[in-house]
Amino acid sequence: MKKQLERKHSLAIRWLHWVNFPLLAMMIWSGMLIYWANAVYSIRIFGTEFFHFFPPWFYEFLGIPYRLAEGIQLHFFFMWLFAVNGLIYVVYLAASGEWRAILPVPGSFGRAVRVALYDAKIVKKLPPQGKYNDAQRIAYTLVILMGAGSVITGLAIYKPLQLAWLTSLLGGYEWARWEHFWLTILFVLFFFVHIIQVAMAGWANFRSMVTGYDVVDAAEAKAEVMAEEVAA
Ligand code: HEM
Repeated sequence: MKKQLERKHSLAIRWLHWVNFPLLAMMIWSGMLIYWANAVYSIRIFGTEFFHFFPPWFYEFLGIPYRLAEGIQLHFFFMWLFAVNGLIYVVYLAASGEWRAILPVPGSFGRAVRVALYDAKIVKKLPPQGKYNDAQRIAYTLVILMGAGSVITGLAIYKPLQLAWLTSLLGGYEWARWEHFWLTILFVLFFFVHIIQVAMAGWANFRSMVTGYDVVDAAEAKAEVMAEEVAA
């Protein structure tokens, strides 16, 4: 079967994506150094605590205790880079029209369920998709909103006096802190699912996020171009 190269990810998307990865890792790590000093959150059901964020062994294992000042310094430095990188990404998506590949479209939620059933090997046929499947569209849109949410809730607890209007809009300092914490947990969950999906999609898919090009079946690519021409 004849193969050919196809442009998949623009240079801007690749740079913004790969710069975001260490920045987010640094935000989570420094956030942990800060959170340790006042570790208040847990999962409780009817007053019974099932899991405390985080058990002492976890902090000890990672060498987290007594590094609050270091954590604050790192967090308040890297947050600007994280926010600016995210902002450039959103502006780029809007200006380039690449948002069309990311935002969910009518029918996305139904098709995302079918993608999940396909991944679970319950159904055999993958629904038709563009650059990303509908589960990816939903996940990537959510993660962009989560990024914005992290910056906004972070600012509300960083300057609760100067930005009192923002802090109270988010339900007050305690609520804003709670929202900030849970957004981080969601980022971690997204990360694990994303890595599993990338691993399942295979080496060529990962390589395309580095080089920008995907290796595709020549006959299929030709059929796609013809279908697009007919549609246009
Ligand atoms: C080792 C870490 C990571 C790897 C290996 C990785 C890999 C990839 C790959 C291969 C794609 C393209 C998927 C496809 O073409 O089907 C992708 C897209 C994407 N990833 Fe990651 N990723 C990583 C970390 C992250 C993190 C930390 C985030 C955000 C929290 C993230 C958010 C995204 C988004 C939003 C896209 C879509 C980009 C666009 O086209 O605008 N990734 N990732």
